Amino acid sequence: MLILGIESSCDETAAAVLEDGKVIRSSIVASQVDLHARYGGVVPELAARAHLEALVPVLDQALNKAETTLDRIDAIAVTTGPGLIGALLVGVTAAKAICLARNIPLVDVHHIEGHILSATLVDGEPPVFPAVALAVSGGHTALYLVHEIGRYTFLGQTLDDAAGEVYDKVAKLLGLGYPGGPLIDKLAAGGNPEAIRFPRARLADSPYDFSFSGLKTAVLNYLNKEKVVWGDADHDRKAALEKHMPDIAASFQAAVIDVLVQKTLRAATENNARGVIVVGGVAANRGLRAAMADACQKAGLSLTIPPLSLCTDNAAMIAAAGYHRYMRGIRADLGVAAKAQMAL
Ligand code: KG4
Ligand code: ZN
Repeated sequence: MLILGIESSCDETAAAVLEDGKVIRSSIVASQVDLHARYGGVVPELAARAHLEALVPVLDQALNKAETTLDRIDAIAVTTGPGLIGALLVGVTAAKAICLARNIPLVDVHHIEGHILSATLVDGEPPVFPAVALAVSGGHTALYLVHEIGRYTFLGQTLDDAAGEVYDKVAKLLGLGYPGGPLIDKLAAGGNPEAIRFPRARLADSPYDFSFSGLKTAVLNYLNKEKVVWGDADHDRKAALEKHMPDIAASFQAAVIDVLVQKTLRAATENNARGVIVVGGVAANRGLRAAMADACQKAGLSLTIPPLSLCTDNAAMIAAAGYHRYMRGIRADLGVAAKAQMAL
């Protein structure tokens, strides 16, 4: 049983061939990071055009690497949303065209279900259900209760910036490159997480929701205020910033991680979950992985965090979600539309 997955919701053009819902025969990802780096974020129109250029070569590579051809593909799974509409359209249109021309069934996949089910692709212990899934990326920070594969209850999400987005924005404030997540993660490893006490938004009235915009402002205010101490001349400021950068990065990261771990554990306990799943680009964060592992161990929860290659956007996870939907008899009409926003 071979599923061809296609993903183009943001800035990664990806295609993958998955065998029996589990074995990754190929997973090709063409990243547009370099294209968007100089703008400090993804430019939707550029993303759509780059997908258009990359998609056919990426599809060819995925089929070649899997040593297969379209004749042997049982179904195509494609991300129909949520995401950037122009970007999504490229993948969705390609998937429909191939399905129509080759008479292959089409399965539509919600991007977040793809992220969550990347947990089913890990080697070793499979995820334990019911689980609380934290989907945390540049576009999303959300908690779901996963009763079983295919049955989800939405618990909460960010009310403003996604965690990855705030990483990217703070990295920009610090004059680091893009994407900021991995750069801050690296710097933080050499800093003191208790050096600066940045705020943690707990949101007592909606404990499963998140808010990170206050944290971003707190970092900005801190940088502006400390300028007095560091001196006003540009070179003084630059030298001081460089000296303090690891502490700022570590303290910022501690604030993000604290909130992510605390809310996830609370959701797991209150919903009688047996497992925790952490997925999405920010799940690559070393500090988050360590803190979540520690908290889950103390709470007796089984933790699944996919390897880095499955954490960031990829099509193997879309094929995995597509596989489980296909097995439940779900097929998409060829008129299915890409949607910028959609509920899971
Ligand atoms: O899942 P993803 O590839 O794309 C979206 O759907 O958004 O996630 C990308 C995000 C970026 O914001 C990036 O800065 C963040 O994940 N990220 C990290 C790390 N690696 C990637 N954030 C924190 N620590 C990391 N090590
Ligand atoms: Zn994603």
